[in-house]
Amino acid sequence: MTPHAKAPSRIRSTTLLVVGGVLWLLASVSGCELLNDPPIETETPGGIALWDARIQPLMDRKCSSCHAGDAASAGLRLTSWEEAIQGSERGEAFIAYNPDKSVMLRLMTAYDRDPHPGGKNRLTEDEVDMLRRWIADGARGPAGLTPFEDSADRLYVAHEGAPIISVVETNAEVILARLDLTDYGFSPRARARHVAVEPDGSFWYASITSSRWDEPAVVAKFNRSNVLVAQVQVDSPGQLLVHPTRDELYVSVAPDIDDDGVFHRRPDAPRHLTRLRRSDLQRTDVPVLFREAFPLALRPQHDVLFSSSMEVDQIVLVDPLSTAVSFFDVRGIKHLFRHLAISPDGYWMWGSGFWSGTATWFDISDPRRMVQRKSLFVGYDPRQIAYHPDGRLVYVAVRGSDVIQVIDQAAGYIDYEIRAGAMQEPVGAAVIKDGSRLVVSAENETADWPGYHRFPEDPAPGMILFIDTTTRQVRKALESAPRAASLAVR
Ligand code: HEC
Repeated sequence: MTPHAKAPSRIRSTTLLVVGGVLWLLASVSGCELLNDPPIETETPGGIALWDARIQPLMDRKCSSCHAGDAASAGLRLTSWEEAIQGSERGEAFIAYNPDKSVMLRLMTAYDRDPHPGGKNRLTEDEVDMLRRWIADGARGPAGLTPFEDSADRLYVAHEGAPIISVVETNAEVILARLDLTDYGFSPRARARHVAVEPDGSFWYASITSSRWDEPAVVAKFNRSNVLVAQVQVDSPGQLLVHPTRDELYVSVAPDIDDDGVFHRRPDAPRHLTRLRRSDLQRTDVPVLFREAFPLALRPQHDVLFSSSMEVDQIVLVDPLSTAVSFFDVRGIKHLFRHLAISPDGYWMWGSGFWSGTATWFDISDPRRMVQRKSLFVGYDPRQIAYHPDGRLVYVAVRGSDVIQVIDQAAGYIDYEIRAGAMQEPVGAAVIKDGSRLVVSAENETADWPGYHRFPEDPAPGMILFIDTTTRQVRKALESAPRAASLAVR
């Protein structure tokens, strides 16, 4: 037996896990149950040793002349599996289990134009088949692992333009998976709206709705291997907030806004937030009196949960223990806050005013006597707000103005703005825990960013950008499914 001939028993086929998830989904029509049976264990049919025995020799023969060392073309090194999974300067070269979305395979088979590589290095059909099979079996390395299988540093991105959730590894800055909700039994019209991750990365959640009123809206719970383990129906699920220390997940109410930004008021829209027990998705309603309580933010002291309404200019303060509520009347022009963000010390809060195009600053150091400080005009349609972990900078994604406004917290004004060709219609923003990078999801709905590869059958890619917080430059711009929307980072 060669050292790599047999799969370690803990390796499982994600394809089978997904199928398992679908079967479970079919089995439990409504309500919430936990999947108790362990997923089916399997040996991968293609053989684990494929990389060493076949793929690396192929790379050495036909690729390494250009894709090796410091001068590697596109920054992609193919001289070992460990380097190959790091991808190129633009993103991942392949996505495990998903040959059809893997740039590498698509370039090799783009016969409507010159396939890459050309000339004597052009792959034979057998070589393409082998590469396809290797990716379909999980793009496993010499030890049988799939790329970054052991990493917990993940980012989840919802997409408005497709039933897709992108999963990104945040150190290498590569896409690990494009989860297709239809593989989990959802309809092609289903959309993930918001995502949230547990602090240790073990589970993550998505609010999933459909453009069809008769298709269920749910909050779905996935484990780190992207197995759907439970789901529960929730009326118009919006933003999600994981309580960092308690067994609680808060779900807000999504406003009914169509693609043109027009509101459709639902007289019967829920006047409560939903609180789910993370362990079993058992639900309780938390009444907040007004409709369309959409934004959610928890003070780091865990004493107040803030929300606001997309219908009236009020902020609601919820005591997470008693669920008692109190209200704050917002002054001045009509704002309608879509997102709220709180500073790491819990003293300040910013709201992005959907109606006013402002970022509005509140002093919440004594939350029961909160004070409205001032509003800064940031541009058209401001969205998600993210604090730098040092508390000094606040990043506001402004969708309609294609810009990230960066607010200096101490001064209370806009310090600088970040723009980039690949960042069209930015909506989601989060800062990686060590503060080194800002991650932005950009819808690119106008397709002003055409994408690098321009496969003619592809719609305009939704973008996931990593921006260096020191140099303010885009480090990497990942192309994914259309209209990258809300995001959550562990
Ligand atoms: C003659 C040099 C050469 C050879 C041989 C070659 N490549 Fe490339 N490769 C390039 C260059 C140059 C680019 C960047 C092209 C561009 O700018 O669009 C590239 C780009 C790529 C990309 C896309 C990277 C990205 O993210 O945009 C992949 C994947 C890739 N090569 C894989 C391979 C594989 C696999 C082989 C062998 C089967 C191979 N290449 C052989 C020169 C080469």
